[in-house]
Amino acid sequence: MPFPWRLNHKAMINALHRSLERLGLERVDLYQIHWPFPPYPVETWVEEIAKVAKAGLSRAVGVSNYDKNQMQRAYTVLIGADLPLASNQVEFHLLNRTVEKNGLLDRCKELGVRLIAYSPLAKGFLTGKYNPENPPPGVRGNGAVPKLKRIKPLIELMTEIGNGHDGKTPAQVSLNWIICKGALPIPGAKTAKQASQNAGAIGWRLTPEEVSSLDEASDKAVK
Ligand SMILES: NC(=O)c1ccc[n+]([C@@H]2O[C@H](COP(=O)([O-])OP(=O)(O)OC[C@H]3O[C@@H](n4cnc5c(N)ncnc54)[C@H](OP(=O)(O)O)[C@@H]3O)[C@@H](O)[C@H]2O)c1
Repeated sequence: MPFPWRLNHKAMINALHRSLERLGLERVDLYQIHWPFPPYPVETWVEEIAKVAKAGLSRAVGVSNYDKNQMQRAYTVLIGADLPLASNQVEFHLLNRTVEKNGLLDRCKELGVRLIAYSPLAKGFLTGKYNPENPPPGVRGNGAVPKLKRIKPLIELMTEIGNGHDGKTPAQVSLNWIICKGALPIPGAKTAKQASQNAGAIGWRLTPEEVSSLDEASDKAVK
């Protein structure tokens, strides 16, 4: 995250050197630019991250929160340096399908860039444990009741579909739906139980018909 306190582009590689020292590692698996950071041109940061990869400090490099045009520019810089763009990490889940509808997901597939889906459980809203009578605590609860009412039919459908897959939970259905779309979900977890439940999202697949019915219910939930 080079901005706003790291205005010099060289700060990116310096920060990684210090992170590696703290981690006790020679290299990381993936180093991503958190945001495109306008007004700096996309190329400024991507040229720096290419140096990171060339120096062997990261096995792969990627970006995050880049739109189609910004991602294309990042891809072009990296290809010029003979490096693949490994990932674009963006928000994607059943309550936010922007990247599916605006063509970013398709473009990722065409370029061989893995779309990493952040907040894949919509920050807990897709787990089924919150409802209009039991909204989430803290800031997530602000204005949550109308949203929880709107998404109730979607949660009910996710529960029903999960029951048909040996009792998979709505969280697991939600993550599997992302996998079926060809993206890689990275759910957050506050407890070991949540982490192991989320791991149960793999090793099975929703049917294409189930994916379509979830798409429909999601469209109604976000209207
Ligand atoms: N690149 C970016 O700009 C960006 C932006 C945002 C997030 N991210 C990344 O995305 C990842 C996850 O996102 P996130 O934590 O914002 O949202 P999330 O994965 O959609 O939601 C995680 C929250 O849902 C609840 N939860 C998780 N698993 C559960 C389960 N099995 N059953 C019940 N509740 C469960 C927990 O909160 P409660 O128990 O309190 O409900 C947990 O903190 C993180 O690695 C984060 O760094 C990246």
